[in-house]
Amino acid sequence: MYHREIRCFDCHQVHGNQNTANLITVGNAVCLSCHTKENPAGLKGTVSEHTHHAEGSAGSQCVACHMPKIEQTIKDNFVSAHTFRFVTPAETEQSGIPNPCTSCHIDKSTKWATNELKGWSTTYPWRVMQ
Ligand code: HEC
Ligand code: HEC
Ligand code: HEC
Ligand code: HEC
Repeated sequence: MYHREIRCFDCHQVHGNQNTANLITVGNAVCLSCHTKENPAGLKGTVSEHTHHAEGSAGSQCVACHMPKIEQTIKDNFVSAHTFRFVTPAETEQSGIPNPCTSCHIDKSTKWATNELKGWSTTYPWRVMQ
């Protein structure tokens, strides 16, 4: 998003407010202000069609899959990844970087997650399989 000139202040209030991390608004609204269906960068369907989880589910929060708390600053202190890119289960197998699916579904394997993603018509197989 940086390449499209999205900056910190598009999501964070510069002078601070009541919200977590001084976000302009809370929850999926932070993302959905831009990623609307009308917008070329928007989701192709509804939120639950995109996330494959029920609308109110923890697995339907944009940050759950696009900003998992995996970036370690100092020991035992994890902050939210700000690349927004979805880390695939296959990348976990290749390099050990945690993917959001099995970080939340801790009882499941990366093979399970890859297999589930295969059925997601909203994603490009060549991107989520590797
Ligand atoms: C597209 C929206 C967006 C942009 C742009 C963005 N952030 Fe964030 N940031 C978030 C969200 C959402 C959270 C909270 C994540 C959560 O709830 O897990 C967050 C959390 C944070 C936090 C709190 C610590 C943490 O990791 O939870 C800091 C600090 C932060 N952002 C700094 C920045 C800085 C500095 C920039 C610019 C370089 C920036 N952010 C750009 C959306 C954004
Ligand atoms: C101020 C507008 C704005 C906000 C707010 C915003 N985005 Fe974006 N986002 C964009 C634009 C513009 C692009 C680039 C689309 C393109 O290049 O086609 C983009 C691209 C993306 C991409 C694709 C990245 C890629 O490399 O292909 C993801 C994933 C994404 N955003 C997730 C999020 C999430 C999660 C949030 C909320 C934390 C968020 N965005 C908030 C405008 C926004
Ligand atoms: C359960 C996981 C999950 C959740 C939750 C999720 N996404 Fe995604 N998202 C994905 C996957 C998987 C991709 C495809 C990644 C790829 O093709 O590299 C993706 C791709 C995207 C893209 C790139 C364009 C596209 O449609 O392929 C954008 C933009 C995006 N998501 C925005 C969002 C927003 C906004 C939310 C919250 C309303 C959200 N996502 C919630 C998993 C998720
Ligand atoms: C933040 C937590 C979270 C993340 C991240 C998440 N899920 Fe889920 N998932 C849930 C919850 C909670 C449920 C239970 C049903 C519901 O709320 O929709 C669920 C249900 C499911 C189900 C149906 C029930 C089952 O266990 O068979 C599948 C399949 C699934 N998730 C796959 C995925 C995949 C694939 C990803 C990564 C793209 C993912 N989930 C990411 C929390 C998460």
